[in-house]
Amino acid sequence: MSVLIKGGRIVTAADDYVADLFVEDETVTLIGESLDQPADKVIDASGKYVLPGGVDPHTHLDMPFGGTVTIDDVESGQTSAAFGGTTCHVDFVIQPKGATFAEALEEWQAKANGKQVIDMGYHMAVTDLAEGGTLEELATLPDQGITSYKLFMAYKGAIMVDDETLFRVMQVAADTGALVMVHAEHGDSIDVLVKQALAEGKTEPKYHALTRPPETEGEATNRAIQLARVAGCKLYVVHVSCRESVEPIQLAREKGWDVWGETCTQYFFVDYSFLERPSFEGGKYVYTPPPRAKENQEVLWTAVANDVLSVVSTDHCAFLWDGQKTLGKDDFSKIPNGAPGLENRLQMIHEHGVRGGRITLNRMVELLSTNPAKYFGLYPRKGTIAVGSDADIVVFDPEKRVTISASTHHSKSDYNLFEGTEVAGSPEVVLLRGRVLVEGDELVAHRGVGEFVRRARFGQELRAAEAVA
Ligand code: URP
Ligand code: ZN
Ligand code: ZN
Repeated sequence: MSVLIKGGRIVTAADDYVADLFVEDETVTLIGESLDQPADKVIDASGKYVLPGGVDPHTHLDMPFGGTVTIDDVESGQTSAAFGGTTCHVDFVIQPKGATFAEALEEWQAKANGKQVIDMGYHMAVTDLAEGGTLEELATLPDQGITSYKLFMAYKGAIMVDDETLFRVMQVAADTGALVMVHAEHGDSIDVLVKQALAEGKTEPKYHALTRPPETEGEATNRAIQLARVAGCKLYVVHVSCRESVEPIQLAREKGWDVWGETCTQYFFVDYSFLERPSFEGGKYVYTPPPRAKENQEVLWTAVANDVLSVVSTDHCAFLWDGQKTLGKDDFSKIPNGAPGLENRLQMIHEHGVRGGRITLNRMVELLSTNPAKYFGLYPRKGTIAVGSDADIVVFDPEKRVTISASTHHSKSDYNLFEGTEVAGSPEVVLLRGRVLVEGDELVAHRGVGEFVRRARFGQELRAAEAVA
């Protein structure tokens, strides 16, 4: 299939210019003025932005968690992503206790097979080195395209690891070139605070935040940074929510240490007060780290503008409010942690980041596409528009007015964190490797078109022909 995109404003992390773009088979083959190649499809992009497809490095699809399973499977989650202009994501394989990493990977791939709408890769979340997975086996994963290891420093009694496990995995990563990702919170103190709150009859959703104070995130972020220095590995801190965690990352980056951080869309917009909403509405906003005091939002905008934080992900971990979140109606600790978000990242960051004057259009592309592609071994196949790159392209109408709502989103969740928010700017056409995925309100391509991508190691390039499993 060939596609000619005419007259759009092509925006990458580095460039911003008007040109035509020709796609043949799966890649961009020509960029220039007045191209007139015969094409199966011609898209008039005048007045539109032509952006590289979004790359979301932090999602949880079809994941058992908090006594239930996330409501979006690979098909519904990726459909939601496609409508939001995200054409590639990296999901977390969570090692079941006692399972080898091969068994874990097989289980996750079985959930995805045949359902894929966009391209995807996996991180491996290590939960157990006592039985099942070994450090030796972990070391083999990067050669299979799983080039990042994730560790949870919280969720005690479930998927939290101790510092010895964290440090040993960091040592393996130093040897194999994998990137270590951490969920940074001080799990032991949070566990004490949760038990104490419940013993005092404090059961409402707001206690989710009050038992996870920002200092617990700051402490764990700093601990992970220092341990990564000792081990000599590269570190990526996920879902940074507050000043206490931004500050150690800022120091690390000023020092030139191998440390990077992401925040997620919701932390710019949802604050602690949302958890206090009556009639268990607050349960919708129970995710971890929790929504913080509002002043943190400006801290995060400054951090993404200054490259203290380098990625905005979604941490899409969707549940139903009615039937799943309500598991914790009488006990906040039983509310499954997580929220939907895959579909609205580009709209929200464009509206409030770019149109709000906080970041440039180039920086938006860098945060949502180029940097995640670079750090997670997908660049330059993904994350940019260049000859030879995958034709993962979003034709974005910056004027299109949309009201975000659960009644129109494509996640199976029955609520949207940004319900009622009006934005100017939305994807109009989305291409995945040259194939039209989404056009207007219609999903054109169907399940099965997405592929698993074997990612390169951090700092190594991934070219189009190399990478499909
Ligand atoms: O609440 C969240 N974030 N749920 C998903 C798991 C995690 O911690 O990322
Ligand atoms: Zn987490
Ligand atoms: Zn997460």
